[in-house]
Amino acid sequence: MELLKKRIVEDGTVLPGNVLKVDNFLNHQVDTKLMDQIGEEFAELFKHETITKVVTVESSGIAPALMTALHLGVPLIFARKHKSLTLTDNLYTANVYSYTKQVSNDISVDKRFLQPDDHILIIDDFLANGQAVQGLLEIAKLAHVEVAGVGIVIEKSFQKGRSMIEKTGVRLESLARIASLDNQKVTFVE
Ligand code: G4P
Ligand code: NA
Ligand code: NA
Repeated sequence: MELLKKRIVEDGTVLPGNVLKVDNFLNHQVDTKLMDQIGEEFAELFKHETITKVVTVESSGIAPALMTALHLGVPLIFARKHKSLTLTDNLYTANVYSYTKQVSNDISVDKRFLQPDDHILIIDDFLANGQAVQGLLEIAKLAHVEVAGVGIVIEKSFQKGRSMIEKTGVRLESLARIASLDNQKVTFVE
């Protein structure tokens, strides 16, 4: 998506440790017009799939996932993060380890919101090592729902998330694919 790539180049900054900071349009302040266009793009890409719900993880996935759900005309579910202490009988839960933050969180969805006849589209803001997506795929399996695809706003193609998803056979669409963040410079996949 050219508009998104242009915005990443203009407003993104590269931090040490191969982290792209995009907090003035995606991760803190949100550009609502751009989010609308992102939602429209995902809805167009997945228009031939059966999708009954969009699923993401709080918090940064919510903005693009909400706009995608709106354009598809389906509900949004965001998995909630919590420590593994609370009662979880009524929840589908997966453990997600963040290499970046070196913390492990459970993510959960209430069983009422995923039924066996659901077909979900997973949306997230970033794909790095793929742990968040893997957690949502686990929840989909527990809930016996179909996964129609995965849509990512910014993919860090030099990390292992893409190959993890490709191995599962699930369709993956990323709106911007970053080949490298070396030398504080964003280089996209050709
Ligand atoms: P993974 O889910 O792909 O395995 O991601 P990883 O553990 O490597 O990253 C942990 C968190 O950092 C995730 O957010 C992920 O989206 C985010 N992240 C990874 N690389 C980048 C990056 O280059 N730039 C930015 N801005 N974020 C990145 P989270 O903590 O799970 O979600 P949230 O609380 O931000 O919503
Ligand atoms: Na994030
Ligand atoms: Na996220």
